[in-house]
Amino acid sequence: MNITKIRKDFPILTRKVNGKKLVYLDNAATSLTPNQVVTAERCYYENSCANIHRGVHNLSEEASIVYEEAHACTEKFVGAKKGEVIFTQNATAALNTVSYSLKNSNMLKKGDKVVTTLLEHHSNYLPWKHLEKMGIKVEVVGLDANFEIDYNELEKKSKGAKVVSVSGASNTVASITDLKKVEAIVHENDALLCVDAAQLVPHTPINFKKINADFLAFSAHKMLGPTGIGCLVGKRELLEKMEPFMLGGGVVREVSLAKSAWDDLPYKFEAGTPDIAGAYGLKAAIDYINKLGFDNIETQGKTLTQLCLKEIEGIPGVKVFGPETGSTRGSIVLFDTKLNCHDLGILLNEEGIAIRSGMHCAEPLVSTLNKDGLARASFYFYNTKEEVLFFTKKLKETLKQV
Ligand code: ALA
Repeated sequence: MNITKIRKDFPILTRKVNGKKLVYLDNAATSLTPNQVVTAERCYYENSCANIHRGVHNLSEEASIVYEEAHACTEKFVGAKKGEVIFTQNATAALNTVSYSLKNSNMLKKGDKVVTTLLEHHSNYLPWKHLEKMGIKVEVVGLDANFEIDYNELEKKSKGAKVVSVSGASNTVASITDLKKVEAIVHENDALLCVDAAQLVPHTPINFKKINADFLAFSAHKMLGPTGIGCLVGKRELLEKMEPFMLGGGVVREVSLAKSAWDDLPYKFEAGTPDIAGAYGLKAAIDYINKLGFDNIETQGKTLTQLCLKEIEGIPGVKVFGPETGSTRGSIVLFDTKLNCHDLGILLNEEGIAIRSGMHCAEPLVSTLNKDGLARASFYFYNTKEEVLFFTKKLKETLKQV
């Protein structure tokens, strides 16, 4: 993999921040966007800017074709069947769609139980927790000493559950969930398995059929795509049984004052004008990843993370939270220092370094590690070893000065 060549696809990497070269280490929040994705979005607005499935004119037909190609390409990318990928606003919207639709379809009722975990981002916690107000019991599984889901506790709590919703990869402590183990536990108990894969899909090949989840959610903007589009992947037989949660144009085959009939999948769940330009961009992002190959993405992620861990652990006063080095972990390093995490973020920003600080939208977990929040560096394949070393050097200098 020629990183120098790859970095040319990302013009933002040449910009300066506070007079310094940008070192972007906030990839778990959002990845950078390559020219190919920007060009694809621009292509929609410059050439075929029209609504889809609603016109017989050329522009509408051209846009509809690319929008459908984006569905097909995403289905192939995640190993889903035709109609199983629904375009949503982001992973959060996808997870909300699952919880609300199951409830609206009476597939989750008063007295039922839902299980989730302490590893979750708010987007896979709040939509379930909210169901408690409707008489649905919500139980939360804790983590083991290695910051992984406590699978024994999951096994116990899954008994009698209707839905188990877990993160495939943590956005904070970097642990990767053993989805094979989770799938066996959840389906043994006849529950539905929902996976928040927002931090997984950008880094590793996922096959929806093979992992045998019932639902899977992810966002385009964490995998080179644009903001504003994400995906809900669901088993066809379940999606067919479920009532859509958002209603409007595009979801019906026929509607009269007396009755209405839902359209086929995925349209039943894609109410209103979707993010058409986003679909152009998502398709371009998937093409980019396919061309680069997950082998390269995974190798670079591991190399940078291991290097960062090695360097950071040698800095006095830095405490890292996450699985032990060598364990399965994502391209994230969550850490604490004697400085408040936001103050540290501001000082590193002075050097052009972008990290994330705070609760990371995972407050139930992060607040137990430090009530004021933590700092996080996260990597993607276009980051370099030099950037990691620059970051750890500046971190060391900053901590020495305070
Ligand atoms: N989920 C994103 C993050 O972890 C926003 O930063």
